[in-house]
Amino acid sequence: MKAMYNLWYRYGTPPWVGPARTSLVELVSEGTLKPCRAIDLGCGEGDNAIFLARHGFDVTAVDFAPAAISKAKAKAAQAGVAVEFFVDDLTGLQHVAGQFGLLVDYGTFDDLSEPHRAAYIRNVVPLAEPGAKFLLWAFEWQLRPWERAVTGVLPFGNITLPPGYVESTFADHFDIQRIAGQSGLRGWPRGWAAYLMTRRID
Ligand SMILES: C[S@@+](CC[C@H](N)C(=O)[O-])C[C@H]1O[C@@H](n2cnc3c(N)ncnc32)[C@H](O)[C@@H]1O
Repeated sequence: MKAMYNLWYRYGTPPWVGPARTSLVELVSEGTLKPCRAIDLGCGEGDNAIFLARHGFDVTAVDFAPAAISKAKAKAAQAGVAVEFFVDDLTGLQHVAGQFGLLVDYGTFDDLSEPHRAAYIRNVVPLAEPGAKFLLWAFEWQLRPWERAVTGVLPFGNITLPPGYVESTFADHFDIQRIAGQSGLRGWPRGWAAYLMTRRID
């Protein structure tokens, strides 16, 4: 999966690359997300990280595809903002340290296989300081049997989270609010959701 992502970034522009995502822009613009130490989990070409840096956040951004990080560094330099970029694997972090007041994941967790999701949670949850916000955007629909068969042979993990998965997976650590989403879409993908989670103070 890592090699596939890396080749995609190296020789092309993956279809998800684009400006900072709508829900992130809205939450920052309305002041719900305030400047703090932030981390972009699976940052791709870095557009969300650069947006946050432009708005006063102290940003770390991580992706396991070196070609994505190279492009992200070039974009940040062009934008004239400082972002600390790391090539690192969210299922076994080596380079990221400390805690953050904001975690952002646009389309990374949903891609992972079930064992990799468990490893991601072990690595990522400790990055959230008490009271931290975690903006998680994911494809969300129940896979049909034929879709499950196809994802089983593709070099992806799962592609989508079933409805209820975020709540059952993150509820031990976060208060969870579903802030946007669509389901039952015609065509493919068939749904998505955005969650704003708040790390519980244990
Ligand atoms: C669908 S893309 C989304 C990229 C970016 N968040 C955006 O909104 O444009 C998923 C990203 O997660 C990265 N990724 C997937 N699994 C990862 C892992 N285990 N560790 C770090 N990055 C990972 C991929 O390289 C890819 O850049």
